[in-house]
Amino acid sequence: VYRIAVFASGEGSNFQALAEAADAGKLGKAEIALLVCDKPSAPVVGRAGRLGIPAFLFQPKDYESREAYERVIVEQLEAHGVDLVVLAGYMRLLTPVIVEKFSRRLINIHPSLLPAFPGKDAIRQALAYGVKVSGVTVHFVDEGMDTGPIIAQAAIPIASGETPESFAQAVHAVERELYPEVVSWFAQGRVKLEGRQVTIGE
Ligand code: GAR
Repeated sequence: VYRIAVFASGEGSNFQALAEAADAGKLGKAEIALLVCDKPSAPVVGRAGRLGIPAFLFQPKDYESREAYERVIVEQLEAHGVDLVVLAGYMRLLTPVIVEKFSRRLINIHPSLLPAFPGKDAIRQALAYGVKVSGVTVHFVDEGMDTGPIIAQAAIPIASGETPESFAQAVHAVERELYPEVVSWFAQGRVKLEGRQVTIGE
């Protein structure tokens, strides 16, 4: 089996979509082996419980540095034999402790067409700017903020009268399809990275 850890801080709709895709056999031989969550009270924790997926929960304030809790996370990832780390609404920057250890095996989903609107609140940023098309990006994670090589993007038109709430729904609907598909490419060993160029093999 190909073992996946999902990092999430909040609602967990992407976590749920990935877990359901795995259960439905849509990720091939992959399984969601672990949830990592920095907010023990987040809704995603209840989802993991209902799905029977082990969770590692921590509070950053209990550690003296980001590196300190990331070293504990790496121990957890190694203990669970994790092959791929999937960030899904994990609202923290990673340090080299995780980024270097999981180089080429660490991806994120972001609710804009990067490099437009990196960082927090991408949906509000896009609507405030007045763009007519935005979307979703899945990318490799490096130490920057949403700067790693792009794996896949999906565009979503912004209708007139769109609100952050209505557009967030459209984004989530696209994410639910796109993220499991990209993860299945990894499970099948089809993703190649050379410099910033990502290609998906047969
Ligand atoms: C998703 O829309 C994801 O793209 C976004 O957080 C949401 C999490 O939703 N991520 C970021 O903004 C990262 N900068 P979820 O908890 O329901 O999966």
